[in-house]
Amino acid sequence: MKHRILFVDDDAMVLAALQRMLRPMRSEWEMEFLDSGAKALQRMREQPFDVILSDMRMPGMNGVELLQQVMANHPRTVRLILSGQAEPDLILKCVGVTHQYLSKPCDADTLKATIARVTCSRLQEAHEPVRTLVARMHRFPSMPAVYLELTELLAREDATAEQIGLVMSRDPAMTATILKLVNSAFFGLRRAVTCADEAAAYLGVDLLKALTLAVNVFSQFDSAPVPGVSVDGLWVHSMAVAVTARRIAQWEGVPMSVANESFTAGVLHDAGQLILVSSFPKEYAQVPRLIQSNGLSEREAERLVFGASHVEVGGYLFGLWGLPEPVVTAIALHDRPGLSPERRFGPLTTVHVANALVREASAIPAVVTPPPVDEAYLREIGLLDRLPAWRAELTTPSTPFSSDACEHPDPPSR
Ligand SMILES: [Fe+2]
Ligand SMILES: [Fe+2]
Repeated sequence: MKHRILFVDDDAMVLAALQRMLRPMRSEWEMEFLDSGAKALQRMREQPFDVILSDMRMPGMNGVELLQQVMANHPRTVRLILSGQAEPDLILKCVGVTHQYLSKPCDADTLKATIARVTCSRLQEAHEPVRTLVARMHRFPSMPAVYLELTELLAREDATAEQIGLVMSRDPAMTATILKLVNSAFFGLRRAVTCADEAAAYLGVDLLKALTLAVNVFSQFDSAPVPGVSVDGLWVHSMAVAVTARRIAQWEGVPMSVANESFTAGVLHDAGQLILVSSFPKEYAQVPRLIQSNGLSEREAERLVFGASHVEVGGYLFGLWGLPEPVVTAIALHDRPGLSPERRFGPLTTVHVANALVREASAIPAVVTPPPVDEAYLREIGLLDRLPAWRAELTTPSTPFSSDACEHPDPPSR
């Protein structure tokens, strides 16, 4: 069955250009092009759409207002927005209503790749229970505007540290949280970092971007009123897994990009749990009970209660956000790396191992017993003999994040 995509833009020229640009996709997508939010809502009442891509600035009903209504009335439709550079205020209003931003001008390849990714049938099937679950949520995190701006900035070769600082300064609360984090024991920097451009110079912009995503997701959800589940604990665990995964990658001498993807996937790997716990506290309370009384694994208990686990929720969210494929795979399979068709060292390996080893070394009570290291998987990729060395390194008292005695940063809040 063809996927149904709805394009909304008040500018007839833009619509015509989109139509021309996407003509080769007609065999795969059923596309409709409308020039106002009101017409789009009317059409959606008649027939469901898989994806809506709306312009931001439109007379009458703007893109944010349109997507708010789509979210309320057609929660299963993927919501994308096209926005111009000069609209940072409106972009901030999109938080919570948009799955992904695309910036104008958007070339045909980016547009096709984005839509292909969110409509990929294999993903859609795997995500069916998650989509049903997400449809029940009052809010679902959307990508922070700062992340998008940093990504755009980095695509330009002449980006400077000052420009990075300028972008970060648009979100002072986030920047303050990130600086606090950067100066915490996790990073073990020798001197205090006081501004965003310095943080970018020390950590690299990829890590800065990863932190903007994590701070954004964690700050959208307050402490969960679920006995036995600690959001603070989850934050500390996520940071520890991120730093550990990156170190494992560095020890194995892989390119820096793999080490940085390991960090990104590590800091986000359990975000799905945060979303589940915060959105459905009463239902989530059954999960620890089921694990204890019925001996189920975390995944089994979550699936029994919600039809999907935190791993799948995370994979779905970050897939929608268009994060790099190795990062999404590492998040989506971090508890079962053997399911990946790939048998080579990468972020999936580092995050899986780091998750198990950090839990082993932690004195902070976990929600549940962590899944053990999948030794069969490590054997298949020829790295099982490295496990004792990684474990020994990470449990050495000199490594700050392996010890719960170190000063942990507070989880982000606004
Ligand atoms: Fe997990
Ligand atoms: Fe974890």
